[in-house]
Amino acid sequence: MFNVYSTERWIFNDKKLEARWYRLLKALVRSSGNWWFSKGFFVALKGKMIRKAKLKDLKIIYSLLQEGVNSEKVLKRSINEIKKVINSFFVYEEENKVVGCCSLEIYSQKVAEIRSLVVSSEYRNRGIGSILVKKCLDEAKSKGIYQVLSITDKSELFERFGFKTEVEEKHAMFLNFNSKKQL
Ligand SMILES: CC(C)(COP(=O)(O)OP(=O)(O)OC[C@H]1O[C@@H](n2cnc3c(N)ncnc32)[C@H](O)[C@@H]1OP(=O)(O)O)[C@@H](O)C(=O)NCCC(=O)NCCS
Repeated sequence: MFNVYSTERWIFNDKKLEARWYRLLKALVRSSGNWWFSKGFFVALKGKMIRKAKLKDLKIIYSLLQEGVNSEKVLKRSINEIKKVINSFFVYEEENKVVGCCSLEIYSQKVAEIRSLVVSSEYRNRGIGSILVKKCLDEAKSKGIYQVLSITDKSELFERFGFKTEVEEKHAMFLNFNSKKQL
């Protein structure tokens, strides 16, 4: 006879299986609506997703930025500063863990800046940084922003999206008021 008790034990004694069931249920909830054939369902099933940041992500964003700060690639930002612009952040999640972030700060209808792009070191070179940049560009396009800028030494990554150092004979020019590296 079918033994509910032992079936339950079989399912929940296996931690990996339990995690898979949990992901499956989460994927169903996240992609509810047109869930079965939607790309969102399969992406969520793999435990990977890009989404708008929430307040609960503040600490993880802060520590990701710290990784960038340590390598002098990203400007230091306090928790309070991040909190003020949390709505401009996207985060990339894998296996329910935030492993990358990026923000699109909209200064005016004319210009927005891609800032604070960091992917945790173990997750680099897998396309996550590019996914985050693409998401910011999609957001800028959807809001009708004319120009997006990025101050970066990762020019190859940005060039793949069509970024140039000059547009229609106009150059971006900088004047540094302090000796710190311009980030
Ligand atoms: C810059 C940074 C965010 C890039 O993140 P990432 O997830 O490694 O970015 P991607 O994987 O999209 O691209 C990185 C490289 O991997 C390559 N790549 C992308 N997908 C790949 C895949 N599936 N397999 C192998 N290589 C891949 C890309 O071609 C790219 O090559 P490039 O270095 O010649 O441009 C990350 O290196 C980082 O956090 N650095 C420290 C902070 C920093 O410098 N921030 C930028 C400030 S603007």
